[in-house]
Amino acid sequence: MDKNAARVAAWNSDELPFSEPGLAEVVKAATTTTAARKANLSFSTAVDETIRKADLIFVAVETPSGKRDALGYGAAPNLTSFHAVLRHVAKTAEKDFILVNKSTVPVGSAHAAKEIMTPHLRPGIKCHVLSNPEFLAEGTAVSDLTHPDRILIGSDDSEGGKAAAAALASLYSKWVPIDQIITMNSRSSELSKLAANALLAQRISSINALSALCDKMGADITEVSRACGLDHRIGKGMMRSTLGFGGSCFEKDVLHLTSTAAKLGLADVAAYFESVVNINTYQTSRFTENIISQVPSSPTGRRTVVGVLGFAFKPETDDTRCSPAIPVIRDLVLAGYQVNIFDPLVHEAKIQEDLRASLGDNQHKIDEQVFICTDVYEACEGANGIAILNSWSDMRYIPSTDGGNYTTRASNAKVNSISKNAFQLTLSLFAKIIPRMFTPELSLTATSIATSTIEVDDGHIDWERIADGMKNPKYIFDGHNVLDHRLTELGFYIDGVGRPLQTPGFVQETETLSSALNLNGRGFVEKSKVQQLPPSWVQFIPVAE
Ligand code: UDX
Repeated sequence: MDKNAARVAAWNSDELPFSEPGLAEVVKAATTTTAARKANLSFSTAVDETIRKADLIFVAVETPSGKRDALGYGAAPNLTSFHAVLRHVAKTAEKDFILVNKSTVPVGSAHAAKEIMTPHLRPGIKCHVLSNPEFLAEGTAVSDLTHPDRILIGSDDSEGGKAAAAALASLYSKWVPIDQIITMNSRSSELSKLAANALLAQRISSINALSALCDKMGADITEVSRACGLDHRIGKGMMRSTLGFGGSCFEKDVLHLTSTAAKLGLADVAAYFESVVNINTYQTSRFTENIISQVPSSPTGRRTVVGVLGFAFKPETDDTRCSPAIPVIRDLVLAGYQVNIFDPLVHEAKIQEDLRASLGDNQHKIDEQVFICTDVYEACEGANGIAILNSWSDMRYIPSTDGGNYTTRASNAKVNSISKNAFQLTLSLFAKIIPRMFTPELSLTATSIATSTIEVDDGHIDWERIADGMKNPKYIFDGHNVLDHRLTELGFYIDGVGRPLQTPGFVQETETLSSALNLNGRGFVEKSKVQQLPPSWVQFIPVAE
């Protein structure tokens, strides 16, 4: 069975080929005929037959970043899959159809798509191309689908174009209020997709740039973010400072916009958007450098161990594309650390594959220095530091006195039926699904995903057990500012992003420090070692020549 066939077989099974909360239930409901409703979703490798039957054909292929542009700004997307699909659809169609493009493409692509398809169409066959960008975020894709902020439909100005847009609007109107379905010209719609991601990414880079200031000045970025977000003109969304954004969209789309601006001769605009990506890279390096300075790598003897929690680019997904975990782990490995990794959803083979690609000529170091663990405790056992690189909900600390207040994971999003479709939906329904069907290199097998969710069964991580197993000082580098500061009660130092270091208290600090610096409890620090201290310790600890 080839990879596409295997992937489609997975869609037709009980184990979908990737992890997305609530999706299995939607797929099950839509593919099963019951007394109440007829199945209206199917997955098939019979592409030609499916195209021939379709009134609306959704295209949702990946358009990954291509090479860096020669002009030196950004990177245009690689449209190979998109163009291949256009030609195939045009050659195969036997009746008029509407092509709905959900892939993120350069502005002007709807127009270009028509030009590409026209020479391949059979005589008398007419097609219209619509732009219908996708705004789903991973981990919340089902609720984003059922409760979108807006649906954009871009068409050309012709009567036929407008009629095609109305047909698509009527499909969405089965579950989306009509005032949230916005029609516009296809260029505006295509640019809106890039603009939305650039604006979201720019907010995160702004808050991350501010986090660097906080780290220098003793301010707390979570307080600054809250203070600013309460201004309704600024708003609260996308204002969390983290170790940097990841995922397949933000960097790619900002680089795409950057490259477009540069090609149009708008060098200042290109430089502005490029800086959004530069700050992101800086933030991730800053996070790693902080680990290296607080928990220095041992030059001789046993390797210093960092336990990494989270490898996917965000919680509730097994997607690792552009995950900031990859450069963090790469740089730790290159600096000589042993890295123990746990992620509840990402398969070991995928972690290995990503790290090998990232380490290139140094990939042999993985065998010696990287351990992929089956639970958080294994990853943290004997660690000198822990790095939280994504934050699944079970990371909360529940002191025993609060035990009864624990709330379980958010239940899966409510599933709306989309059974009243007036048209046959054929090539694609959900963006984020289809790109992976058409891009074998990004496929993940679903088979082993369920194996490692062990410690979430009883609700939350047992931080006391982790504290017991760690070396002193017990440093946690919280790349998402998610940890409860009461964890310091257990002797942890919590070093968030853009936040003052949280310490366990003076007495424990000196003890921990003494053992960390091998001072045998003498209670002072040699001047030469002061640099190794976290800044907040310096004021308390006697320094000797
Ligand atoms: C994003 C857009 O949100 C979505 O509309 C678009 O269709 C695709 O790109 P996605 O990449 O799935 O979705 O995830 P998102 O939740 O936006 O997070 C992206 C990255 O930003 C993650 O690495 C996340 O950790 C980071 N992030 C998010 C922050 O660093 N701070 C924030 O405040 C929010």
